[in-house]
Amino acid sequence: MQKNPKIHLSDFILAFSRVLDFVSPQVANHHLRVAIIASEIAQAFGVSRRETAEIFLAATIHDIGVFSMQEKFEALEFEMANPHLHAERGYLLAKEYNLFSGAAKIIRHHHTHWDHGSGRRSLGEEVPLGAHILHLADRIEVLICRNTEILSQKKHIAAAIKCHSGKLFMPELLEAFEDLAVRESFWFDATSPEIPQIIADREALPHHELNTQELLGISRIFSHVIDYRSTFTAVHSAGVSAVASLLAQMMGFSDTECVMMTIAGFLHDIGKLAIPPEILDKPGKLTEGEFNIIKSHVYHSYRVLEGVAGLGTIHTWGALHHERIDGTGYPFRLKGNSLPIGSRIMAVADVFTAVTEDRPYRSGMTGEHALKVIQDMAQNSALDHSIVGIASTYFGHLNDIRIQEQRKASAGYQSIKQLLNGGQRS
Ligand SMILES: [Fe+2]
Ligand SMILES: [Fe+2]
Ligand SMILES: [Fe+2]
Repeated sequence: MQKNPKIHLSDFILAFSRVLDFVSPQVANHHLRVAIIASEIAQAFGVSRRETAEIFLAATIHDIGVFSMQEKFEALEFEMANPHLHAERGYLLAKEYNLFSGAAKIIRHHHTHWDHGSGRRSLGEEVPLGAHILHLADRIEVLICRNTEILSQKKHIAAAIKCHSGKLFMPELLEAFEDLAVRESFWFDATSPEIPQIIADREALPHHELNTQELLGISRIFSHVIDYRSTFTAVHSAGVSAVASLLAQMMGFSDTECVMMTIAGFLHDIGKLAIPPEILDKPGKLTEGEFNIIKSHVYHSYRVLEGVAGLGTIHTWGALHHERIDGTGYPFRLKGNSLPIGSRIMAVADVFTAVTEDRPYRSGMTGEHALKVIQDMAQNSALDHSIVGIASTYFGHLNDIRIQEQRKASAGYQSIKQLLNGGQRS
């Protein structure tokens, strides 16, 4: 029997923040680097510890609304063309969970210009000071050249930032930054390869132990960040988690374990954040190299979730969904009894959802056809016989629940997609 997991908010957020930047070495640790710079500026400016923690939290996830590699690289330009779309998308994603409500407002305005004071308000609301701090920290970080030794860049970065005093940035914040910029440690910290450890040691995020419901709430938000980057699978995790948890219930798992299975479903593809969306969404056949990159998503899911203390079986249930009982799965090529029952359930739920859900380029398979695919996989000893037996018996019910949960997730996706299609801020 599973016990309630004990998970710290900071461990979970930092793991997620790191994987957001796995996608390219050019952006490695961008979120954490910005977070450390922002919290230093906030502290130097005299912002309270509580508010600094909020800014730090916002910084660790500030670009969750960036949905393509093109946008990711555009965000590295000092004066990027249209930053407000990703800021608004990030806001819409984060505001869905109450622990993130403060951070969501900061994210919404993290590219708002100070504009000689008019930037105190935007979009009909007050812009939090944290947003101006995050904007400054973000722009400092993108000015750092990753191939050159950092101290020789100090002067040039400080001068480039100063040029925009009053226009882009609040002048008083620049004074705080200039005081910090003389310290070598400020720059060494911001660019250290040990940054996850530095941040963990500093306890910059609020000390908060997540209960199961909170873990569920945050995981649901994360599942949207994972899924919305691809139009092909925009509500995939919502379907997988619903099917997996219902199958777990039918297999006799306890209520707590079924919630853990829902969470595992939300997180099973977290490693997809490390895959360029252009590959996930490629129309037509993937090259061998592209398929290899896609394959790495489960490896990243495994390693990222493994690093979150207390996640326990959620980690193996979620991340082993491409392993197969006959050893033909990946990435660990586990076989037979070495595959936990929870992971086998997730594998069935993943295939079940993948074959039945509609994709932009094809409709989902009909019941009979979908069942045949799943049963053939059990016949070939790839999927678990008894779980596939239950999935076959209750196919209609499982499919109805999948559709219902994916419809709910789709409503959120549609509002974000309007922005994707170039909708303007109102
Ligand atoms: Fe941004
Ligand atoms: Fe950024
Ligand atoms: Fe997957």
